[in-house]
Amino acid sequence: MREDIRRLHSPVLKAEVLEALGAARGGIFVDATLGMGGHSEAILLESERNRVIGFDRDGEALELARERLSGFGDRFTGVQADYRRFGSELDRLGAGLIDGLVADLGVSSWQLDSPERGFSFRFPASPLDMRMDRGSGPTAADLVNGLGERELADLIWRYGEEPAARRIARRIVEARRRSPIRTAGELADLVVRAAHPKGRWRIHPATRTFQALRIAVNNELEGLGEFVAEAVDRLAPGGRLAVITFHSLEDRLIKRAFRFQSGHCVCPPTQPVCGCGAVRRIEVLARKAMAPGPDEIQANPRARSAKLRAAVRLYD
Ligand SMILES: C[S@@+](CC[C@H](N)C(=O)[O-])C[C@H]1O[C@@H](n2cnc3c(N)ncnc32)[C@H](O)[C@@H]1O
Repeated sequence: MREDIRRLHSPVLKAEVLEALGAARGGIFVDATLGMGGHSEAILLESERNRVIGFDRDGEALELARERLSGFGDRFTGVQADYRRFGSELDRLGAGLIDGLVADLGVSSWQLDSPERGFSFRFPASPLDMRMDRGSGPTAADLVNGLGERELADLIWRYGEEPAARRIARRIVEARRRSPIRTAGELADLVVRAAHPKGRWRIHPATRTFQALRIAVNNELEGLGEFVAEAVDRLAPGGRLAVITFHSLEDRLIKRAFRFQSGHCVCPPTQPVCGCGAVRRIEVLARKAMAPGPDEIQANPRARSAKLRAAVRLYD
């Protein structure tokens, strides 16, 4: 089965990421989100002089990536940690400046396709877990059964941009009075009844609610700006940064962080004098985010919402 993952899994925007990172020139690269190790493998294959230090907060993903990359010997180092701590982990490993960093944010296909992880409503009997790091933090079931109706509605609206958030929250609270909501199927059925009772839809009505819960459980949007700042601090002059996002909430934060790091003011338009202190430390490689072409989307429909932003570190 693990051999299947290597055979079937090609990382999103592989050629574009390698190009953006300048991975052919040889150097030390950080893969902030190892997942199934696809981008790391591509970087290691691109030049024999490349080394990769890879991070994942999910211990099972890390094990999978380590297995996939075992043939590269000590050119690959895997660390179980949140990428928002990558700087201190690099210090611990005695690594100095790096030549490039890639972050492919969100959840991996392997996580989505693992029924026991509870990320997808495609597996109705899955427990509502959704934690990337199964060793810590509340599960999706804890939030669904523990938050007040208003908090739930706010969460589903803020992280899912779900127009029916209030109706869904009300339906959840009514249902859990009878018995706690435990499985992906129970939650998905409730959402369908609350959001889309007529049964005709383009995307499954539970998609946004599941996205919202996953983002909340894993605290996915917090600290992205600081993460980009730390990545820029760590890059050697001429070093490259490549970030892939999968939804507009993430992309907005990354775009803003890139703007700030490239010296553009990010103060609210209503503020008369700039107070953000933006200083030009990077040059953004393409003004418009790169996206997969039709061939990649056909081969991997999950890539359809991917956006890649890339930048090069300037000399101070
Ligand atoms: C989209 S997948 C990466 C796929 C990978 N690029 C590949 O080619 O196989 C995202 C991975 O990032 C991990 N992840 C998400 N948030 C993280 C965080 N804050 N710190 C570390 N890893 C994280 C997830 O557990 C998941 O395995």
